[in-house]
Amino acid sequence: MNENIYVTQPFLPPLEEYLPYLQQIWDSKHITNKGPFHEQLEKELCDYLGVEYISLFANGTIALLVAIKALELKGEIITTPYSFVATAHSIKWNGIKPVFVDIDPYTCNINPEKIEKAITKKTTAILPVHVYGNPCETEKIKNIVDKYNLKVIYDAAHAFGVEHIGQSIINEGDLSILSFHATKVFNTFEGGAIVSHSAEMKKKIDDLKNFGFYDEVTVEGIGINGKMNEVQASMGLLQLRYIDSAIEKRKRIAQIYREGFKNVKGLRFLGDLEDVKYNYAYFPIFINENEYGKNRDDVYNALKKHNIYGRRYFYPLISRFSAYKDLSSSKPANLPMAEKISEEVICLPIYPDLSMDQVNYIISVLNNG
Ligand SMILES: Cc1ncc(COP(=O)(O)O)c(C=O)c1O
Repeated sequence: MNENIYVTQPFLPPLEEYLPYLQQIWDSKHITNKGPFHEQLEKELCDYLGVEYISLFANGTIALLVAIKALELKGEIITTPYSFVATAHSIKWNGIKPVFVDIDPYTCNINPEKIEKAITKKTTAILPVHVYGNPCETEKIKNIVDKYNLKVIYDAAHAFGVEHIGQSIINEGDLSILSFHATKVFNTFEGGAIVSHSAEMKKKIDDLKNFGFYDEVTVEGIGINGKMNEVQASMGLLQLRYIDSAIEKRKRIAQIYREGFKNVKGLRFLGDLEDVKYNYAYFPIFINENEYGKNRDDVYNALKKHNIYGRRYFYPLISRFSAYKDLSSSKPANLPMAEKISEEVICLPIYPDLSMDQVNYIISVLNNG
C-alpha cells in the first residue's frame, strides 16, 4: 500500500454538521468561561457515561494536575511506570514524589499485589491507569486504600465509555480523569475532564480550573486556567452523536486482528476480560522474540517499511526518563514486568475509518514476519 497508515487518526464528524455550532458561537460571542455548549456537554456526558458530576478541562493533563490539587495530596503517590508521561508529570508538577510499582503483564495495569510493599508513612494516594482502557483491579485497590486511609485517582485517559459489570469504570476512586485529545476514542480536539462524587468536590474542582476564583471577589487556593472553550465543547456534543458507531467500528477491527493473529507464534494480544464493555481504544501486540524470530524493534521497523506506523506505547517506561530515573522505585529490578512488556509492545493502527483492506494488509505483513 502506498499511503501511510498511522496508529490512529482522529474521528471528525461531517464539517457541515459542525458549522451551525460555530455560527451559534459567532452569534452569541460566548466563546469560553462556562458557555452554553460547555454546560450542555457536562450534562450530556454525565448521562452518556453514567456519572453524577463531571468538570470539563482544556486537556487531560491539567485535569490530572487539578485532581491532585483538589484532594490536597502531598508526600508520595504510588503509580505505574507503564503509562504516558503525563501521569507521573502531574505528580511531580504538584511537588510530590512518584513511587513506581510494577504491572501485571496480562492487563498492563499496576499490580495490586505489589502496592502494599511500596506504601510508606508519606504515601497519600495511589494513581493507577486503566491502560488501553483495560479496567484496573479496582476492588483490590479499594481494599488497600481503605486499609491505609489513602486516596485514589484513576487516570482513565484511555477509558472513555468502558464499563465493568454494567457500571462505568470512571465512577471508581475518589476522582477519575479523562482525556479528550485528538488521538482518543472521544475527542474535543484537545480536552479532558474530572469525574467527582459530590457537588462540593465539583465546585472545588471548577474553582481550581478557573484560577481558584470562589466567587467574583474571592480567590481560594492556587488555581490554574484549565477551562474548556465553546469550540471544543460543541465538538464534543457532535462527537457524542457518533460515539457508539465509532466504538462499534473499532470493535470490528479488533475482532479481525485477533482472528488474523490467532495462529501466529510469538505474537500475543490482549483478550477481552469477562463483564467488561470495552472501547477498543488501542490494539497492542506483544512480540516474543524467541518464538516470533524477530524482536519488537525489528517488527516495528519492518512495519514502517510497509508504511505502517505502529507506536511503542509505552516505551521507554516513564521510570527511564531523566526526571525519574534516579528514584529508587525506578530501578529495573523493581519493575521487571513493566520492563519486559515495554520491550515487547507495539500498538497497531486502530481507528473508525481504518478500512478492512488496510487491516488485512497489516495482518498479512505480520503473518509473513
Ligand atoms: C494515560 C494518559 N494520561 C494522561 C494523558 C494526557 O492527556 P492530554 O493529552 O489530554 O493532556 C494521556 C494522553 O494524552 C494519557 O494517555
